[in-house]
Amino acid sequence: MNLSVEQLFQHLWQQYISINPQAERIQKLLNQRGETVINDHIALRTFNTEKLGLINIASIFLNKGYEVIKEYDFVKKRLSGIHLEHTENPNHPKVFISELRTEEFSDELQETIAGIDDQIDKINVMQDLFLTSGRTWNLTFEQYIQLLRESEYAAWTAAFGYRANHFTMSLNHLTTFFKLEDLNDFLLDNGFTLNESSGLIKGTPEQFLEQSSTMAAPVNLEFDHSTHVIPGCFYEFAKRYPMPKTGKLYQGFIAASADKIFESTNR
Ligand code: NI
Repeated sequence: MNLSVEQLFQHLWQQYISINPQAERIQKLLNQRGETVINDHIALRTFNTEKLGLINIASIFLNKGYEVIKEYDFVKKRLSGIHLEHTENPNHPKVFISELRTEEFSDELQETIAGIDDQIDKINVMQDLFLTSGRTWNLTFEQYIQLLRESEYAAWTAAFGYRANHFTMSLNHLTTFFKLEDLNDFLLDNGFTLNESSGLIKGTPEQFLEQSSTMAAPVNLEFDHSTHVIPGCFYEFAKRYPMPKTGKLYQGFIAASADKIFESTNR
């Protein structure tokens, strides 16, 4: 199936809110204030195997008019990332894709990921609906816990598979909130839990990007032989600032802030 950009994001959103209904509740609260929510970006996670590497995931977007704008290196989390933007329509969300550098981890972790890779059909990876295929491989809770000891990112990706890890709302497109702080207060007042790792707001106006996020909603997830409650997806909020020379809003990402945002799926 060849989806339009809008259709693809619609599929990703429906799958995302099915395990993260707080995102839909937040959108509804904002709609009640007369707001229209525009997405700044979505984030996708993968492993750097030959089949599942981020460039294969990116190809789905490259075929739909996106281009790779920038590369990122998350040393501490041992991840590589890229961000893509649509060449013609700036209102299409940016896409942030990262991959775990599996060779930098233990043999045991590498074996588990190789096992996942073995169960994937290469033909499927570049299909649109692969992005919303979820987990199509076997995984025991014991394997999940073993991955978790080395990398929260590895454990999350192995457990949830292919889906948006988070959607990010653009604060710049809201009309009743100007400061990220005010949106955070609004969400806290409405009973949502926000990620407080290094403060509620990651990044500064001087870095041209401020971000905050909810903590991931707990999900009752089925493993082989058992079901467990683990952290799922979170909702993110971004305010971008104009750059001095061009006056245009900064469109990149800040590695140090993303590092902290990744922790929104911590237990
Ligand atoms: Ni993000």
